[in-house]
Amino acid sequence: MQKRENFASQFGLIMAAVGSAVGLGNIWRFSYIVGINGGGAFLVVYLLCVVLVGLPVLIAELTIGRSSGLSSVSAFQKLAPRSFWWIVGVMGVLAATTIGCYYPTVAGWSLGYVFESMFDWNALVGDTGAAFTEFSAGWKAIVFAAAALAVTVVVLLRGVTAGIERCSKLLMPMLGVIMVVLVVRSLTLPGAMEGVRFLFAPDFTKLTVGGFLDALGHSFYSLSLGMGVMITYSSYMKKDTDLPSATVSIVTMDTAIAILAGLAIFPAVFAMGLDPGEGAGLAFVTLPAAFASMPFGQIFSILFFLLVFIAALTSLISILQVPLALLEDRFHFSVKKGLAVVSAVVIVFGVPSVLSFGPLAGFTILGMDYFTLMDRLANDIFLPVAGLLGILFILFSFGVAASKREFLTGSKRESHFLATIYPFAIRFIAPAAIIVILLRAALSFAQG
Ligand code: PFF
Repeated sequence: MQKRENFASQFGLIMAAVGSAVGLGNIWRFSYIVGINGGGAFLVVYLLCVVLVGLPVLIAELTIGRSSGLSSVSAFQKLAPRSFWWIVGVMGVLAATTIGCYYPTVAGWSLGYVFESMFDWNALVGDTGAAFTEFSAGWKAIVFAAAALAVTVVVLLRGVTAGIERCSKLLMPMLGVIMVVLVVRSLTLPGAMEGVRFLFAPDFTKLTVGGFLDALGHSFYSLSLGMGVMITYSSYMKKDTDLPSATVSIVTMDTAIAILAGLAIFPAVFAMGLDPGEGAGLAFVTLPAAFASMPFGQIFSILFFLLVFIAALTSLISILQVPLALLEDRFHFSVKKGLAVVSAVVIVFGVPSVLSFGPLAGFTILGMDYFTLMDRLANDIFLPVAGLLGILFILFSFGVAASKREFLTGSKRESHFLATIYPFAIRFIAPAAIIVILLRAALSFAQG
């Protein structure tokens, strides 16, 4: 077996984990679900889900990965031999692969929109709805999704340190800079304050049961939880890695980037008198219309879609690393062979996702097109359920005390406020919140 690689530095591993967390979820998905769920009130519920559920589950996953030194499925097998807990890992791999089947579609749109903004600006902003339909239904969507996948594969071929870590260390700070430029632009538009109010002033009458489920699923999605990503990444962390500070950095940066994305998007949308409830097309239909009517809009459009692509790339890398690491750890595949298998799966199940905006638009299962089905399946079912099972694993197999000990190993301090609240949060708060939200959603689904 090949020797397993480790991240070379604390900064590098934090950038890689933040790179995984910060993705389409923070910009494209976050803004559109905030938009359809009425703004501020949803943000409050989302933040509660991050702190009460996401944070303890993140700690759980980081400790499972680092203490076993193995990726998702193998980690469970090593920590609980002769048991069935490895199924939790399998669910995670399924969730990651499901997301991996539609993620390149949206990553491809953002890459394509960088070029469209550069070379075909007038066509892009003439009628943004028609332009998006034409782009996403045509050959360009396939070409750019394939390009996004190809770049990801090239990075993964170089391995954990030279590929994932180096690429994240370069791209994440770049993303931060572009984001700040866009927020300043958006906030200084006349009429921007209305967008700020939409994002921060809660109107709880707009919240629905579906909104709670959206918030819970999205907190897992955004922090890359429930799919073995954090288990896999932390398995490359050395024993002297400071997990408490990594945890704080991941959660703070992920949340901050989502809020900044909201501040880049909503003020611009409101300033131009557009509708924030557009849905999945918000970033690709509504926002270009806002860019079209601001000075130097073309430059901001290029920057925005570049930002989305960078965010998507570092996340897609982590998504594919999950099944890849499984093939390497469990079945002793070489990186090349593993990547060939993973890419084949993603291509076979990913092509229908691109096509669901074109020739497959009329093909629906349970009333959803293929793309939406993949997204909903992962977020509403796989992630919360895998998250809950992961918690049960900590409670009934690995042990809360062992997990807490692992969390503090390598930290310079004897204790940490997160370690103090972790046992209570993982035993009671997180599982209760997941169960209540899932049951409530199931009930309302059953009632139609
Ligand atoms: N956390 C990523 C985002 O917010 O876009 C999405 C993601 C990463 C999903 C890794 C799944 C995954 F395995």
